[in-house]
Amino acid sequence: MIKEVVAKSINDQINKEYYSSYLYLSMSAYFEAEGLKGFANWMRIQAKEESDHAEKFFNYLNERGGRVELKAIEQVPTDFDGIVKVFDQVLEHEEMITASINDMMDVAFEAKDHATKSFLQWFVDEQVEEEATVGDIINSIKLIKGDGQGILMMDRELGSRVYTQSV
Ligand code: FEO
Repeated sequence: MIKEVVAKSINDQINKEYYSSYLYLSMSAYFEAEGLKGFANWMRIQAKEESDHAEKFFNYLNERGGRVELKAIEQVPTDFDGIVKVFDQVLEHEEMITASINDMMDVAFEAKDHATKSFLQWFVDEQVEEEATVGDIINSIKLIKGDGQGILMMDRELGSRVYTQSV
């Protein structure tokens, strides 16, 4: 049976992953309203991936005999201030999620819960990838410097992202 302290950290993380999903869906709605369909597509897929992350934790906690407790999702921002600031916000948010996963790893270590440590490793690796991807997008946006043609090209590129289910 999973220790209470580990179960609590998983339940807290389920909430954070659903918040992330809701945040990115809100960003997708913003881009949609701005006529940036490719950016909107990228964010919508990002939202789905976050929901998958939540389900991964959900399934794992059930598997370990823990009790999943879904809490209210905090209000997300509904208005944003341009492409650059949105992606800066995404990076900042992902860095917070990375810190949270690292804290969970510490909890699992202290509880000597080797199964949870092994399970969390996927998320540790995933966060490295997520931060790098967002960092690349930010670099491209900076290179474009608001040029319309460049934004159009990026919108096309981000529009080609396809969702792959991971749960
Ligand atoms: Fe589920 Fe983007 O971290």
